[in-house]
Amino acid sequence: MSAANESMSRDGVTGGQSNGWGVRGRVILVTGAASGLGFADSKMLVEQGAQVVMTDIDEERGRGLAEDLDAIFLHQDVADEGRWTEIMAAVEARFGRLDGLVNNAGVAPIADIETTSTATWRSTLAIHLDAAFFGCQAGIKLMKENGGGSIVNMSSTAALVGIPDYLAYSAAKGGIRSMTKAIAIHCRRQRYAIRCNSVHPGSINTPMVQHALRELMDVDLNAADDPERTRRKLGIGEPNDVASMVTFLLGDQSKHINGAEMVVDNGDTVV
Ligand SMILES: NC(=O)c1ccc[n+]([C@@H]2O[C@H](COP(=O)([O-])OP(=O)(O)OC[C@H]3O[C@@H](n4cnc5c(N)ncnc54)[C@H](O)[C@@H]3O)[C@@H](O)[C@H]2O)c1
Repeated sequence: MSAANESMSRDGVTGGQSNGWGVRGRVILVTGAASGLGFADSKMLVEQGAQVVMTDIDEERGRGLAEDLDAIFLHQDVADEGRWTEIMAAVEARFGRLDGLVNNAGVAPIADIETTSTATWRSTLAIHLDAAFFGCQAGIKLMKENGGGSIVNMSSTAALVGIPDYLAYSAAKGGIRSMTKAIAIHCRRQRYAIRCNSVHPGSINTPMVQHALRELMDVDLNAADDPERTRRKLGIGEPNDVASMVTFLLGDQSKHINGAEMVVDNGDTVV
């Protein structure tokens, strides 16, 4: 095994031995944790024994959910670079380290190439792409001081195929996909023992997708006679389908996976 490969494992594990997903005791920050996928990630990570710091722009909801999970909540607008410095300082003061980061917060304005305003373009890129850049930069700084870690950047199948009604979103998610690979290779070259991967969900049943279904297809998933049947018919996954991938990528079981794009879409982009 090369020295570079050896450095991939957070614990220098060579035999693959670990507890469950291998996140027990890890300090993990999840952005956009007050809803949908971010909340599902946080819940699964807490259940697996991680110490989770949940952040979101929605303070009231986030604080309540964090309390229920016995996690920590910090208010954060991910597009604000200065706030990232404060968040990392707070994590370091409390735990002395950061082992995992999930850049998950997001918005999905519905607009195509002809209807996307410059303001929407800029704010969408700021919340997704700028934020992932700020998060990775701040996260690596703290992780590399304490033996390494794992970063998961939430992208989308929009990064792989381009979705016409989500122009700015597709562009931002595409940027996250390639930035993730560049970061992974950089960290490997520097022998930081920091991995960086992107996750690409298809449609998952969260408030973001419920909104899209209402706007684009006139479908109200919550009001459907049989919501579960409708969900399956439309090929929509559940938040835990993504949370299990995120948890896997944060733990030791995925120690040889780096710079990868993990698609969670039940084959949508294959057919
Ligand atoms: N649901 C899906 O089908 C799907 C598919 C592919 C990718 N994704 C991605 O997964 C992530 C989570 O999506 P979701 O479906 O859970 O959406 P959601 O709308 O349920 O949750 C998004 C969360 O992000 C928070 N947020 C928005 N702007 C923020 C900001 N500036 N700073 C901090 N927090 C902010 C919101 O308050 C909310 O809690 C997003 O990046 C989204 O693009 C979702």
